[in-house]
Amino acid sequence: MSDSTFEIPNSIKKHHPQVGLVLGSGLGGFAELLENHESFDFSAIKGLPESTVPGHEGKLHFGTIGGVNLVVAQGRVHLYEGWTAKEVATGVRVFHELGVSTLILTNAAGIVNANFKPGQWMLMSDHLNLTRQSPLTGEARFIDQTHVYSPQLRELMKAESRETGSSRLYEGVYAWMNGPEYETPAEIRMLRTLGADAVGMSTVPEAIQARALGMRVLGMSCLTNYGAGLSGSPLSHGEVIEVGRDAAAELFTLLESAIPAMVEI
Ligand code: HPA
Repeated sequence: MSDSTFEIPNSIKKHHPQVGLVLGSGLGGFAELLENHESFDFSAIKGLPESTVPGHEGKLHFGTIGGVNLVVAQGRVHLYEGWTAKEVATGVRVFHELGVSTLILTNAAGIVNANFKPGQWMLMSDHLNLTRQSPLTGEARFIDQTHVYSPQLRELMKAESRETGSSRLYEGVYAWMNGPEYETPAEIRMLRTLGADAVGMSTVPEAIQARALGMRVLGMSCLTNYGAGLSGSPLSHGEVIEVGRDAAAELFTLLESAIPAMVEI
């Protein structure tokens, strides 16, 4: 199938990352913390789709954090750009091919649970796939999804968060919507009724693909704004990017100590 093939050059294959990190909208900057840093454009891997969204840079960074080999994708692609769920998950298959066994997925998300506050992080405990698209269509069948987001990795993040004294780390259910438009207030009320705490347009296809390949997944949502109708103001992509940028430093501090611990459990 043409949309699921890719070619990794030897210059990239020679890196052997154990942990992969995907950075969502406005969450760039982590690469600066990498030691022995080398970066490539997405275009270096034939078949890896490239994003058209502002705030998604389209770079792959390799390096180490506390002795752990890491690959960081700055930018990702989405259904709303016209890609299929399988194409959206190509990067995860590339990571798997490179040797990644632990995958950290981040995103910007709107708040559905009105008890949550913008600018804070939410550990994804589970998801609602409301797009009805799957990266596994025509491929792996009947994959168990009881624990898509690793309970061990979530516990580790909570412990690290207590230790680094960072602000509140929420935990909740992420609803995956097609976009590209934001939701209506009625849709936000519907999502709350369905059990969602946050809403976004990414991450779920990558998580499903990663689980099908046997990887451990950690999902982190940056709560950039109240969902439509929960505050008086209209939503803007600029605000999403800005809040994400401010909250990124906190996540990076947390990940710097958590990543070396992740490979031990
Ligand atoms: N809705 C959907 N996706 C989002 C939002 C939102 O409110 N904020 C950031 N990504």
